[in-house]
Amino acid sequence: MKIMVIGGGGREHAIVKKLKENPAVDTIYCLPGNGGIAADAVCVPEIGAKDIPAQVEFAKTHGVEYAVVAPDDPLALGAVDALSAAGVPCFGPSAKAAEIESSKVFAKELMKKYGIPTARYAVFSDMAEALAYLDGHDAPIVVKADGLALGKGVTVAQTREEAKAAVRAMMEDRVFGASGSRVVIEECLTGPEVSVLCFTDGETVAPMVSSMDHKRAGDGDRGPNTGGMGAVAPNPYYTPEIARTCMETIFLPTVRAMRAEGRTFRGCLYFGLMLTPDGPKVIEYNCRFGDPETQAVLPLLKSDLLTVMQAVTNGTLAQTPVEFSNGASCCVVLASDGYPKTYQTGFPISVSDEAAPHVFFAGARQADGQLVTAGGRVLGVTAVSGSLSGAVREAYRLAGQIGFANKYCRGDIGRKALAALEDDQ
Ligand code: AMP
Ligand code: GLY
Repeated sequence: MKIMVIGGGGREHAIVKKLKENPAVDTIYCLPGNGGIAADAVCVPEIGAKDIPAQVEFAKTHGVEYAVVAPDDPLALGAVDALSAAGVPCFGPSAKAAEIESSKVFAKELMKKYGIPTARYAVFSDMAEALAYLDGHDAPIVVKADGLALGKGVTVAQTREEAKAAVRAMMEDRVFGASGSRVVIEECLTGPEVSVLCFTDGETVAPMVSSMDHKRAGDGDRGPNTGGMGAVAPNPYYTPEIARTCMETIFLPTVRAMRAEGRTFRGCLYFGLMLTPDGPKVIEYNCRFGDPETQAVLPLLKSDLLTVMQAVTNGTLAQTPVEFSNGASCCVVLASDGYPKTYQTGFPISVSDEAAPHVFFAGARQADGQLVTAGGRVLGVTAVSGSLSGAVREAYRLAGQIGFANKYCRGDIGRKALAALEDDQ
């Protein structure tokens, strides 16, 4: 079987490696892929993740029988609609369903209409009104750009002035372009954060093992926000009781709400949750697998990924087992020093034979027959073990066997989760 995966980061590498475990899969194309993914898939660097007409043409000329669209941009632009219309079965939501991520205003209004727990909020398309609203509300307070902003569109403001500066940056300076034409201002919630990725065919919801992202660049959750510096799974804060509450009050109501709105969601729906003193609430929805959560979660999937994805596409998830192992995993991201600000690239990457099977490449390219760094986040290294402490130890041991100039990683991935486990005992 010939499969096409759209995207080119660590998440896509994790998806490619898992799909390859199915013996019926003979070729995986990755568009555009990257120099590191090239060891596991036929990469097509000429076709970018947003070049939907070229993706459709490629699928037709290469006999692609199934496609997985992983990143938010092509989903919001309608890649799944276009490929499906061309007769290529696809994993991922339609553009209409992807709006649950691409418009925060849409997501907030959906939650309000259907009683799904989330932070209280107000929406503004006029800057003066947004600034006046802030005069009447105390910090901390959260300001969000409506549209996609590469994960940088959220400011958790500690002072009113900081909140106002964020509003001005979004609405006046347009630092996120059209994504800042509307802003959401919302109540600041507190509590541990949990990521839950769910397979859904629009009716049945099959949650994956829970996980914890590490968004800040520095140890102790300090420094600027990044695309994610590591992840662990499962998330110890997410108890079976909380999982049941989330299924009843958040997951199923969201999937039913999308169906009722004529936007049936099929694919991976990502719930960014905060476990507040008043119960679990939704911080954000993503219409796709998270990065780097996927690199921690998929290695724990015991069921065949292709079978589960096809069940999502065909609407047969209720009859398809989705099972995870009882172990734990830890993904440590190795980045270029300076990320997420300025950093240098082009340095050769060396990976030991022992570490190689555990590596998911993100910012890597081939140059003169050698793999070199090509981005802020260069790769993730994931270890699976019977215990979280074992997984964390092993991930760092393997990370030590990977070398490139200016290599940087956090030293405390999993520390908060391990502390929560100890508190529990
Ligand atoms: P997002 O870009 O939506 O993932 O948001 C980035 C981060 O901002 C989240 O992971 C939270 O840590 C934080 N955040 C977003 N909304 C809120 C909120 N209402 N209260 C507190 N923190 C928030
Ligand atoms: N790890 C968060 C995201 O993928 O948006």
